[in-house]
Amino acid sequence: MCGIVGYVGEKQAQDFCISGLKRLEYRGYDSAGVVTLDEKGKATLLRAKGKIANLEEKLAANKREDKIGIGHTRWATHGEPSEANAHPHQAGPIYLVHNGIIENYKELKEHLKEHKFKSETDTEVLAALVNSFYKDGKYPLMNAVVQALKLVKGTYGIAAVSTKSPDEIVVARSGSPLVIGVGHDETMLASDASALVGHTKRAIYLNDGEVARLTKNSIEIKTLNAEPVSAKVEEIETNLAAIQKGGYDHFLLKEIMEQPESLKETLRGRVNVKEGIVHLGGPGLSETELRKIKHLVIVGCGTAYHAGLLAGYYIEQFTPEITVETVIASEYRYRNAYIPKDSVALIVSQSGETADTLACLREIKKQGVKTIGIVNAIGSTIAREVDGGTYVHVGPEISVASTKAFTSQVIAMVMFGLTIAQAKGVRPGTLKPYVEEIDKLPEAIRTTLESVRKEVESVAKKYAKYEHAVYLGRDTAYPTAMEGALKLKEISYVDANAYAFGELKHGPLALIDDRFFEFALVPEGELYDKAVSNVQEVLARGGHMIVITNTSKFDLPVEKVIKISSDCKLFAPILMNLVAQLFAYYMTLAKGNNVDQPRNLAKSVTVE
Ligand code: AGP
Repeated sequence: MCGIVGYVGEKQAQDFCISGLKRLEYRGYDSAGVVTLDEKGKATLLRAKGKIANLEEKLAANKREDKIGIGHTRWATHGEPSEANAHPHQAGPIYLVHNGIIENYKELKEHLKEHKFKSETDTEVLAALVNSFYKDGKYPLMNAVVQALKLVKGTYGIAAVSTKSPDEIVVARSGSPLVIGVGHDETMLASDASALVGHTKRAIYLNDGEVARLTKNSIEIKTLNAEPVSAKVEEIETNLAAIQKGGYDHFLLKEIMEQPESLKETLRGRVNVKEGIVHLGGPGLSETELRKIKHLVIVGCGTAYHAGLLAGYYIEQFTPEITVETVIASEYRYRNAYIPKDSVALIVSQSGETADTLACLREIKKQGVKTIGIVNAIGSTIAREVDGGTYVHVGPEISVASTKAFTSQVIAMVMFGLTIAQAKGVRPGTLKPYVEEIDKLPEAIRTTLESVRKEVESVAKKYAKYEHAVYLGRDTAYPTAMEGALKLKEISYVDANAYAFGELKHGPLALIDDRFFEFALVPEGELYDKAVSNVQEVLARGGHMIVITNTSKFDLPVEKVIKISSDCKLFAPILMNLVAQLFAYYMTLAKGNNVDQPRNLAKSVTVE
């Protein structure tokens, strides 16, 4: 998704903007730009297609001491990736950057004939609209922005400057995040807090429908209806180390390998293994409310959806009397789905900004259903709009492919399920094994990563020649297989799809030939023998199988067996998923793709 940065203060705005845009690179983009103003309002606008390095080359030849500026990384929605379509866009003295989509930009454009459009973007229409109210500086910039936004339909996070008032930045948001960094004689802004880390620990998260005027020593926030808003300054929870690679070649490998620590953060203060219980304060549901729950709806996209599917299997295992439905947000938001009384909705999102998930949340709230967030990004829109929630606290997840967030989302939801079961008086003997394994899981993850990493690297190299893959599993290994397939497809671009083992003979078995390899999760347990016979079905058709298992019983002549050994049996799929994560990473390296910023994808999908 696009990234926005801005600075007004005593330091060089170009430096802040470039370093800030680099912090936001992980979000995915295809062009970038920065505009700065000197104290007389002379603008230096630099834009470049492709990576920020191309913009840096231009900046090096156009160094300015300017103390105010805004910058943007663009992920093309309207108009191809190009310098002309890159932000900031200009209209008269106004320069503007924008995240989101102006849905009625065509009709607005009809009324802006006096502007000579130079791009195909909706953003330039917004800049021209602001300028049409600004009347060359006759009206304050903030008022012109407000008047323009009142005509806009769609989503936006914007920042605007004017050569007529080179000491102020006006920002506004509706549906696309903006955070203001509060400094000493300097004020910053960004579309996420990682661009502010190291500059300030004090942040103000703008809310939808709010507009702010920033100078180096003042912040004025109002609603679009001119009601003053008192700014709530919050602490930025992260630090520089958390957003740097820490010695790894890629953020993805760092985030895979730090899962023992990140899961520990998720569990901190929430697991009482002695008493065999968990305690989640965030959901804010009373014992009575927990006891009444009959139905869980779990909502998410992509990896968050898979985490919800897997958590749903577990919750059904130990709370027999509630039903769990896990849904894809982009589908559910348009369904006319009835949510029964005594339901609670879990809204799962690493970024807390995914447009479809946020829209689902708002639809579900309209039905009066309690919503609980399972979110990572502190202060994100979903985190602030749910009724209660549990932060997973895995720290910034920079790589587009989600890994540590998945593991912690699953366990956080399992802990929420255990909280319900505890309130319903489910026998402690039933729940204790889950609590004990959860407590042991960080260490089990550490030993698993250490024991399989080299082996998985060499296996991935051998299978890098394939362009098609089938991932297979039963029960809790099935959503895990779905997550493994997504990991592989989204970074290696291999056409990987997951099927329930039991579904093979209903169609997918026809696929098995030398174009494919199969990645099968075969944990020991009640369905182990069934999974083994499914493996035999694939072998009989000449399958090229990699089997991940946690039992030495497995002895079929597949091409490769990767064995994990841990006494975590219930959560074996979580450990098997580590193999799938590493496999996707090393396969992608072997294919030479961009590991952290795969083509066409963004870290946070804030548009539909
Ligand atoms: C997963 O690796 C992908 N990056 C993507 O599917 C992601 O999980 C999805 O876009 C949901 O993002 P969220 O958790 O931030 O809402």
